[in-house]
Amino acid sequence: MSDAELLALADAVAERAYAPYSALHVGCAVLARDGNVIEGVNVENAAYPLGVCAERTAFARAVAEGYRPGDFVVAAITASPCGGCRQWLLEMCVDRVVFRNQGRVVTMTPDELLPESFEL
Ligand code: THU
Repeated sequence: MSDAELLALADAVAERAYAPYSALHVGCAVLARDGNVIEGVNVENAAYPLGVCAERTAFARAVAEGYRPGDFVVAAITASPCGGCRQWLLEMCVDRVVFRNQGRVVTMTPDELLPESFEL
């Protein structure tokens, strides 16, 4: 699957976001090395900080299905990943991240997205 096709899946799944407070619908589609795609959307909450980003729902879902860091090739996101999600992308050891930012499609590695990162 091409990066463009994966981003199209992220666009499609974004329609299922639960974002009544920000109205920003974000989708994430992650291509695993076994060829499967795991999708996530942002899920907001009336207690605002409890909301979760699309990237995190995708990776949490993947981990619950048995995937582990290093099992992922690409994460495609409909928005530029927030700082916290950059830490998640690094943790999950995804090869590259493709995302939309101000009308452009950008491809970066987790290390480029979060240089000099915190790691235990
Ligand atoms: N959001 C994501 O889902 N991923 C990001 O990396 C950026 C922000 C969501 C969180 C919140 O539901 C909405 O976008 C507005 O911040």
